[in-house]
Amino acid sequence: MKSWKSWASIASSFFFGLQYCAFVGLLGSVPRRSTAMPGRARTPHLDVVIAHCDRPLGWVSKFVTRNVSNVTIISKCNQTVEGAPPQARIVRLGNVGRCDHSYAHWLAQLQDRVPSDRQGSDLILFIKDNDMSARYSEHGVMDRAVPFDEMVQSATGPSRFACGRQWFSRRGGQPSTYHVKAVLGSFAMRAYNRTAGKLASPQGSSGPFQSKYKHMRAWMQDVGIAELLKNQTVVRVCYGGAFLTTYSQTVLPASRTWQKIEASLARGESIEEGHFAERSWAALLSTPLTLQDEVKAFTYLKTIHFAPPLNGMILQR
Ligand SMILES: *[C@@H]1O[C@H](CO)[C@@H](O)[C@H](O)[C@H]1NC(C)=O
Ligand SMILES: *[C@@H]1O[C@H](CO)[C@@H](O)[C@H](O)[C@H]1NC(C)=O
Ligand SMILES: *[C@@H]1O[C@H](CO)[C@@H](O)[C@H](O)[C@H]1NC(C)=O
Ligand SMILES: *[C@@H]1O[C@H](CO)[C@@H](O)[C@H](O)[C@H]1NC(C)=O
Ligand SMILES: *[C@@H]1O[C@H](CO)[C@@H](O)[C@H](O)[C@H]1NC(C)=O
Repeated sequence: MKSWKSWASIASSFFFGLQYCAFVGLLGSVPRRSTAMPGRARTPHLDVVIAHCDRPLGWVSKFVTRNVSNVTIISKCNQTVEGAPPQARIVRLGNVGRCDHSYAHWLAQLQDRVPSDRQGSDLILFIKDNDMSARYSEHGVMDRAVPFDEMVQSATGPSRFACGRQWFSRRGGQPSTYHVKAVLGSFAMRAYNRTAGKLASPQGSSGPFQSKYKHMRAWMQDVGIAELLKNQTVVRVCYGGAFLTTYSQTVLPASRTWQKIEASLARGESIEEGHFAERSWAALLSTPLTLQDEVKAFTYLKTIHFAPPLNGMILQR
């Protein structure tokens, strides 16, 4: 067991955080930067990126309760797209890397720039064709869909990010998006056995599920994410491949991060790297937690989830 190591790193970052807070406390409160835009408020654009395999998309227009500007459907399984919104642009790609590859592909084509017809505060929704209404419970922890208006509130707030799924637990502690990075990094998944729907595809035609990486940390080092997050003790994690963010966030990671993730996820159809990417979107696209945020996450800590698949999740009181 290596968990004593993780605990040691958690404890040391926690005490470092406490010192920092005491210091800031002495200095007095830091004034908040105003996020208000001068002049008349403009309704932000909302663009939607849909990862499609074979499910009808009619539910999307009911779920998204705001006016949508552009819709891109990235369709991978050579199937007809049913129920596509009228303005949708359909992009067909080879069947590799599932939704995470599709999102990385879309982000990579931005070329590290906010498009000239968009502003930093405009929204992008990433969703799959599967509305996940049939999600099953796992380890006593379950997730449910977050209503779109709540997602908009969160993504237009300081975090610039909203997860489309919210976890809850019947026993012991409230699951949070906060994850201890050191423990998250130990996540690995040697096989994927989900039987719900057609996700079970044992050793598909495109090679093995298992990656060459010992754990998620090794993958993060390889694609450059580890360096981006090196100052973070706690990061956000959003499971389920449905999230909302703003254009301002797409240009924050170092140049070519999206390309590197896209290339890594092209190895096969259902692959371990996809599960690493799933766990990285929130950390890459939300504003980094401040030390005060991190300390707050620990203040309400009840326990930390060490076992896969929720490695590092902070459950709060
Ligand atoms: C959505 O668009 C319609 C037609 O363009 C417009 O009348 C309506 O006010 C818009 N709704 C919102 C919430 O912006
Ligand atoms: C939105 O769609 C229009 C029409 O297809 C296109 O010209 C424009 O480049 C798109 N903008 C973005 C940000 O996708
Ligand atoms: C896609 O489907 C069409 C018709 O169903 C078929 O003719 C074509 O060969 C398929 N393409 C691929 C790449 O599988
Ligand atoms: C995955 O499936 C295999 C074969 O059906 C089974 O032996 C194994 O226990 C399953 N693993 C998990 C984690 O469910
Ligand atoms: C990490 O913190 C150091 C020291 O404050 C800073 O110089 C560096 O830019 C930070 N790195 C990242 C990736 O935020």
